[in-house]
Amino acid sequence: MTIRTLAPATYDKLTATVARDTGERRTAALWIHAAALVRHAHDHALAPIEDRPPGPGGLLKSLESLAGCHPALAPLADPAVLPLWEQPLGAAAWAAIEEFWDRHPALEGEHRVDGYVLGDAYQLLSEEARKGRALCQTPPWVARLLLRLSLEPAMDEWGPADVRMIDPACGTGHIAVAAFHMARVPPVRGRRPSPVGHGPWAVERALAAVSGVDLDAYAAALTAYRLLACSASVLGVRLARVPASWPVNVAAADSLLDRSDPLLAAGAYHACVANPPYITPKDPVVRDQIRAAYPQVATGKYSLALPFTALMLEHLAVPGGFVAQLTANSFMKREFGRRYVTEFLPRFDARWIIDTSGAYIPGHGTPTCILVHRARPPVGDTVTVVRGNHGEPRIPEDPAQGLVWRAIEDTVDSRLAWDRFQAGADRARQGGDPTH
Ligand SMILES: C[S@@+](CC[C@H](N)C(=O)[O-])C[C@H]1O[C@@H](n2cnc3c(N)ncnc32)[C@H](O)[C@@H]1O
Repeated sequence: MTIRTLAPATYDKLTATVARDTGERRTAALWIHAAALVRHAHDHALAPIEDRPPGPGGLLKSLESLAGCHPALAPLADPAVLPLWEQPLGAAAWAAIEEFWDRHPALEGEHRVDGYVLGDAYQLLSEEARKGRALCQTPPWVARLLLRLSLEPAMDEWGPADVRMIDPACGTGHIAVAAFHMARVPPVRGRRPSPVGHGPWAVERALAAVSGVDLDAYAAALTAYRLLACSASVLGVRLARVPASWPVNVAAADSLLDRSDPLLAAGAYHACVANPPYITPKDPVVRDQIRAAYPQVATGKYSLALPFTALMLEHLAVPGGFVAQLTANSFMKREFGRRYVTEFLPRFDARWIIDTSGAYIPGHGTPTCILVHRARPPVGDTVTVVRGNHGEPRIPEDPAQGLVWRAIEDTVDSRLAWDRFQAGADRARQGGDPTH
């Protein structure tokens, strides 16, 4: 059994037990999750087994040891990120955590190290991340579709070896990890040999291609850990053997307001891909700061998703860069979306509008849509729209195989195949190689 099948109440119960020692739930959730992360590293042979001494003190030592494996893992031993050193645990709480993870391992099925379950566990454990920052995991099958419509065409246009992508609301890294794998092994097109292979260079290059930023410092640290875990696993080495000089482009920062972080530099990305927060900012000071920084979209009781679109299209993307997002469709129905729909979005080259409101996307109670734009004025007269007719008749056992989601993917597949056929036919007419 994977922990994905556990009811949220199971996590709540454990968090309540541990919170008796820590005094509050936030640190309790972090103790529980850090224990899962250390287990993940050891169970996948990413860290030496002797680096896992017993007890809560042992967990702190394991975190310090993990933090020493690569500069990008330093936050794991930073009390400002993980305040565990300041709020130690008693034996009973520790035994409850150990027993929980013994029964519900936070590993992946089929020995994959990607850490999807680890990310999902953080969402389930941290009420603070869920309610305060709208952390809601983007399922890997949604991440893949977003990347197929953004990173993949960006690799075609700028070349797989040069492309750079960012998720400016990366959470625990579901999109970043999927992008890492796509950048490491780009899809083969026609007879063109892929310039990126499977060796160390491919891993280093894929790490360099992917960036992620999140307000939540622990979620960002988890993203960095997952990117390194994937890298180490592909190379067949422990985390400590991934060269310290290899880039892990993950930062904890406010993507909307922080202009000092190098990862948030202007015009740096060929693909920007996000499942941004949809909430209305709660803090009135932050709400006004964002309103002042994004007057073109932040009107009325705006959702944070709107300034995120402006951030990606106007600031982060290179000219012509691809911007794909899974976002709430509330802007289509509410007053705050008026300026966004009538003045802001028409300035950009809309490629895809996909109604995903009928699909069952776990955790996403809000009706959603996928928007894909290019950061340039509109080109041509075609926008591909996938309109929903029906919702999912019942909650599918495997959401990736839900009727609505399958219909969306099939529609996108046939449209992409048609576009490629037409592009090939155009090249052949001009005397070129239709498969390039
Ligand atoms: C819907 S979740 C994204 C989940 C992510 N795609 C994943 O699968 O892990 C939205 C994320 O936006 C982050 N966030 C909210 N406001 C932010 C801001 N101003 N700057 C950066 N990240 C922010 C939250 O912390 C949360 O992790």
